[in-house]
Amino acid sequence: MVITIVLFPFPLQGHINSMLQLARILHSLGFNISIVHTQRNSPNPHNFPHFTFNSFPDGLLETEHASESDLLAFIMRLNVSCIVPFRDCLQKVSSNDSEDRVACLITDAVWYFSQAVADELKIPRIVLRCTSISSISAFSALSALREKGCLPIKDSEVDKAVPEVLPLKMKDLPVVHEKNPEDLQQILANTGRETRASAGLISNSSEELEGTKLAGAQEAIPIPFFVIGPFHKYFPASSSSLLVQDMSSISWLNKQKPESVIYVSLGSIASIDEAKFQEIAWGLANSEQPFLWVVRPGSICGSDWLEHLPSVFLEMLYGKGHIVKWAPQQEVLAHQAIGGFWTHCGWNSTLESICEGVPMICMPSFGDQKVNARYVSDFWRVGLHLEDKLERGEIERAIRRLMADPEGEAIRDRAVRLKDKVDQCFKEGGSSYRSLDSLTGFLSSL
Ligand code: UDX
Repeated sequence: MVITIVLFPFPLQGHINSMLQLARILHSLGFNISIVHTQRNSPNPHNFPHFTFNSFPDGLLETEHASESDLLAFIMRLNVSCIVPFRDCLQKVSSNDSEDRVACLITDAVWYFSQAVADELKIPRIVLRCTSISSISAFSALSALREKGCLPIKDSEVDKAVPEVLPLKMKDLPVVHEKNPEDLQQILANTGRETRASAGLISNSSEELEGTKLAGAQEAIPIPFFVIGPFHKYFPASSSSLLVQDMSSISWLNKQKPESVIYVSLGSIASIDEAKFQEIAWGLANSEQPFLWVVRPGSICGSDWLEHLPSVFLEMLYGKGHIVKWAPQQEVLAHQAIGGFWTHCGWNSTLESICEGVPMICMPSFGDQKVNARYVSDFWRVGLHLEDKLERGEIERAIRRLMADPEGEAIRDRAVRLKDKVDQCFKEGGSSYRSLDSLTGFLSSL
């Protein structure tokens, strides 16, 4: 009898990528894969012919999007509107499966409502955390810090170290600037409680990267942990991209010198204002370093795409810069022309860069990105942190430091050594190899 596992991704790009990569890993181990998903941001079933896909309408209006400014409200609304349609869908999937047994449900941690549904249908639930282990600890520390009166962060304390979660400083705590700060407390409380009630936690990280942080996270969440990442390294890149990836990125990179290009992308949610956009553009141009820049439509407040870039900007680049709406990021980072990644430090982007040995310039926006950025710059020391005001002169200097200075050379060496270290985790006896083995045994025993 084949064992079926039902996976339920949260409908945001970074979260969908991790869940579908996990699905591919489990499928390769012989499990049957059934994906239950919202019709919103649906993955393309044609790219995963071996999986069964079951979708349901999430009950929100088409116009209700997950933007940086109301992400938490979006998460909370979905956790209410999906209860009934998800339960109906899961019930159908589990009763349809006449020959194969549904052994468990794996959901994104953010789907905290799904624990009650799993309990009701008597299906064990395992949680996927799409963030780093260090972020789990940082999120867990927030309520105690709030009780101690440390939150909201005081201007005079932004650079103060946080002893509970070193090497983080107060300004790195994963708070989100929201209209309703209580929303974050509510989501963290719900996510924490329902994760502790689940049968186990799967992490897209590796002990080679965050082994020293694992015990602390497990203390906060005393359930079995399976640290089996980085997921994307198990297979060549697969497409769970919600936007069309512009392949001219690769043909343009083919014409550039090895390690000469800085790749710039701020992920799928972060947005910037027009003034910052102009500083980035001029900082890139003035650095005189070739660049590949992803400007996601809608990511600049108040404009559709590049209409506010003066035409003189593009003319003065003389082909040194290439701007696309969305890139095949994994292939880009693996390209020999790439010498650095200016990133918002989403966890997927951070892992993808580490796994290619590409040093980073960190410009985190919100939430766990700030934790990841501090780890990149101060813990693994494989990148620079753009901490001061975003200004073209600072940007130009940071790019030169990373791409042309001896300091950048040292950072690059460390990035290559970190990549080699992470490569070990998949080999026999490596931490992710062993943990995947335990996960297989665990799933088979359910
Ligand atoms: C969100 C949060 O912002 C992040 O902090 C959290 O850790 C996961 O969820 P996102 O902002 O999209 O994710 O960032 P990230 O985690 O880096 O995921 C983006 C994904 O989109 C990556 O897998 C990346 O390869 C892909 N991508 C990005 C593309 O395929 N093309 C692009 O042009 C840019």
